[in-house]
Amino acid sequence: MSISYVNGRYVPHANASVHIEDRGFQFADAVYEVFAVQGARLIDEEGHLDRLERSLGELAIPEPMSRTALKLVMRQLLRVNRIGYGWLYLQISRGVARRDFPAPQGLTPTLVMTVTRQKPFDPQAALKGGRVITAPDIRWKRCDIKTVQLLAGVMSKTAAYAQGAVEAWLLDDDGNVTEGSSSNAWIVTAEDELVTRHTDHAILGGITRHTVMKLAADNGLKYVERAFGLSEAKAAREAFTTSATVMVRPVTHIDDAQIGDGACGPFCRKVIELYAAYMKQGASA
Ligand code: PDD
Repeated sequence: MSISYVNGRYVPHANASVHIEDRGFQFADAVYEVFAVQGARLIDEEGHLDRLERSLGELAIPEPMSRTALKLVMRQLLRVNRIGYGWLYLQISRGVARRDFPAPQGLTPTLVMTVTRQKPFDPQAALKGGRVITAPDIRWKRCDIKTVQLLAGVMSKTAAYAQGAVEAWLLDDDGNVTEGSSSNAWIVTAEDELVTRHTDHAILGGITRHTVMKLAADNGLKYVERAFGLSEAKAAREAFTTSATVMVRPVTHIDDAQIGDGACGPFCRKVIELYAAYMKQGASA
């Protein structure tokens, strides 16, 4: 059984718990990050911690400890669990208080971390990809904050799995693809450009997305950040998704439309190779 971290203690996962009045449970008044672990290193650690601090700042939740201390705890958790490859999940809620809507001042934030063991990223296996379905984007208007208020994503991802798909791409009221339930969306145009939606309050600025943009720029691949519609996506040469958990995953079909020849195309293959090499080096983009 794995060991989890709860407010300063390393505890067996089965006994890891927080109070029923935790505002994370009562109001989703909490933020989180998911880090990929490859070769016992936290991939894009600084980028995830930057975004965590931003999310906390947007909600005026105090940082439970310094960044240096947080890094020490994360490393210790990986060590006690002997995790070389997997995911580290970190959640900070505003803390525990009698249920009441206004956010109380001066609470001690709740900090929990869990780890999951996974197979090492295998660029060959990553070529496989899968189908995505589409679903209306019914989420709130601050998707840029990485909160645990994830019910809409749970619904769309559950619908995707029920239909044998790997993800749902979400459509805004104009029929444009915002992002996936828990990943960013990319297409490749006939002009050989990688396209991913620009960041604003409607999507989460993915850390993997950011790294892929940096790797693309450094390796002569053109990318643009702009809105794209469902019909453009269905007619794209290639499509793929990015996140800390799937890393880079080709999209073979969108709903019933086959993308390209229905397999990982050369651009996505290149991105997978670049990303795998980047993780091997443990670099930070
Ligand atoms: N989800 N968009 C949404 C809505 C997400 O939930 C995620 C990540 C991403 C990709 O962000 P990043 O590249 O920083 O992981 C985009 C994580 C993996 C999760 O909730 O499990």
